Amino acid sequence: MTTTLITGATRGLGLETARRLTAAGHTVYLGARDLERGQEAARQTGARAIQLDVTDEESVRAAAKLVREEAGTLDVLINNAGISGAWKLAGEYTAPDMETVYATNVFGLVRVTHAFLPLLEAGGHPVIVNVSSTGGSLTRNADPTSVEYKMPVLTYASSKSAVNMITVQYANAFPHIRINAVSPGLTATDFSDIASPGPTPVDFGELGIQSVEEGAEIIIRMATIGPDGPTGGFFEAGGPAPW
Ligand SMILES: NC(=O)c1ccc[n+]([C@@H]2O[C@H](COP(=O)([O-])OP(=O)(O)OC[C@H]3O[C@@H](n4cnc5c(N)ncnc54)[C@H](OP(=O)(O)O)[C@@H]3O)[C@@H](O)[C@H]2O)c1
Repeated sequence: MTTTLITGATRGLGLETARRLTAAGHTVYLGARDLERGQEAARQTGARAIQLDVTDEESVRAAAKLVREEAGTLDVLINNAGISGAWKLAGEYTAPDMETVYATNVFGLVRVTHAFLPLLEAGGHPVIVNVSSTGGSLTRNADPTSVEYKMPVLTYASSKSAVNMITVQYANAFPHIRINAVSPGLTATDFSDIASPGPTPVDFGELGIQSVEEGAEIIIRMATIGPDGPTGGFFEAGGPAPW
């Protein structure tokens, strides 16, 4: 039996991933800031709700304790919880704007990984999937023809660049764990239901927004890789993504 924890799984890509991995036979802990909403999502998916706010040390510690007591080990950790933060022109972002987005997307990911590493290391073939974005790709952001170039979001994009580097650093440090970053691509969730006030207004329809089922594909693929699968990589639906 594979035990899997997904952070931020009350809706969007996390919820769809919970649904699919539960159907595939995983015992899924569905991470939810609000346990009641988590229980509702768990009822829909057959997963097990667990209170988990990635910005809250005590919440993360309690979640790790619960999984240790119930399951003993963790096979798959999916660091999915993420926020976009406000969309502004680059010059309008403030340090507190950065702190808000990094608190969830970067510090939260490290907090959860640090708390669950002992449980992952206690298992057989552990896997970590960090849900990143090609919004954090330096290569794409430097390419004026790319979608990412048309969606400049200083806080969010840089937080995902940090997630990519954190992925590589962890993968180098823990070669026996498969640790990869993935980019789901522009997906129709509450997350993408935002308007860009950037220099070029973004028309998501024009950019080819995909369904949540399609977006979750790469998360599921990398969550279910075997012990000989890649590690320290960055992947999107079509294959390796540029750093
Ligand atoms: N959608 C896209 O186009 C897209 C593209 C590339 C990458 N991504 C990435 O995919 C991931 C999931 O995004 P999504 O589109 O599914 O977004 P979403 O529909 O907005 O869902 C975000 C999830 O994260 C949770 N969350 C937020 N802050 C949290 C915290 N402090 N602790 C725990 N959970 C928290 C939310 O919980 P609540 O319900 O409690 O708010 C929700 O379950 C994110 O990392 C995002 O950056 C998305």
